[in-house]
Amino acid sequence: MNPSSFLIQIPFFPEQASNFAFEIDLFYLLLCALTGFFTVLIGVAAVYFLVKYRRRSQGEVPEQIEGHLKLEIAWTVIPFVISMFIFVWGAKLYYQMYTPPTEALEIFVTGKQWMWRAQHPDGQREINELHVPLGQRVKLTMTSEDVIHSYYIPAFRTKTDVVPGRYTVSWFTPTKTGTYHLFCAEYCGTQHSGMIGKVVVMDLSDYQAWLRGVPREKSPAEAGEQLFTSLACINCHLENNKGRGPSLLNLFGTEVKLANGATVKVDETYLRESILNPGAKTVAGYANDMPTFQGLVTEEQVAMIIQYIKSIGPRQGEAGPPTTPASAAPAPAAQGVGRPAPPQAAKPAAPQGEQPRQD
Ligand code: CUA
Repeated sequence: MNPSSFLIQIPFFPEQASNFAFEIDLFYLLLCALTGFFTVLIGVAAVYFLVKYRRRSQGEVPEQIEGHLKLEIAWTVIPFVISMFIFVWGAKLYYQMYTPPTEALEIFVTGKQWMWRAQHPDGQREINELHVPLGQRVKLTMTSEDVIHSYYIPAFRTKTDVVPGRYTVSWFTPTKTGTYHLFCAEYCGTQHSGMIGKVVVMDLSDYQAWLRGVPREKSPAEAGEQLFTSLACINCHLENNKGRGPSLLNLFGTEVKLANGATVKVDETYLRESILNPGAKTVAGYANDMPTFQGLVTEEQVAMIIQYIKSIGPRQGEAGPPTTPASAAPAPAAQGVGRPAPPQAAKPAAPQGEQPRQD
């Protein structure tokens, strides 16, 4: 049965508008069907046995049953197989949803009492709205300025908590143009129920036209580069590695050795921690003398600095040959959707050659 044909007549399910929607609905329907089947089976059997084995006379002594090996094996093995099937399928879906693709349009989302802010790779911002291109993989990197929120798009069947103090990631490929609900799905204070918005799925060309129509602010990486100077990070993190702090050039995605002998992968979470709590993981060979920037920068600004560090990091898929710092690099002509735009990138060009696989 195709769930969508059945569901259109009974508007009990939201539309299916992402790559995950159909399979999640199918999985959910299977769980409902299994639950319904066994509820009926057990209920009917209970009533049937109640009648069949009722006490027929005073003093009746029932026949003692010693056990039934085949029956016991059956009711052990069958539920085991069914529950393992549910587990494997559920785990596969979970793994897909929580493993974002490396090539995806990356949008930063910040939750805050009581609004959703989003920023596109080239700097376009929006509040309580999210415009995404049809058929392109979209990755949301999210954090919260205050309490836990949850970014819920029912039509995409994606719901991910947005947690202060860390980054969470959600991804999807929109499969149907239209406007869909966006909800906060975690109680976050008096106006939680008003923390809603809309997700607009547009054809790629419409999306690009929309991007051009939004007043373009600095891209996150550009704003991050400016913060890097204004907060004086640049005075210690010299690119020639002769400063008081390690060079950040070509750093993102690599592994660094720490003073305590451990190694850590340089990702968003590590960079964020190092900005707000520099002493937590001191790099080997450097003194623990960087001041904290806790309270001096907002979560959005932290994200901008991280985007800047990413933009001067090794290109995705390239194994660390030195690249020119983004500030000096001319923008490549065709900027794929999948790669964070370097600061000087012009308009979001149509993805050529780097067309992400559709899911
Ligand atoms: Cu934010 Cu509920």
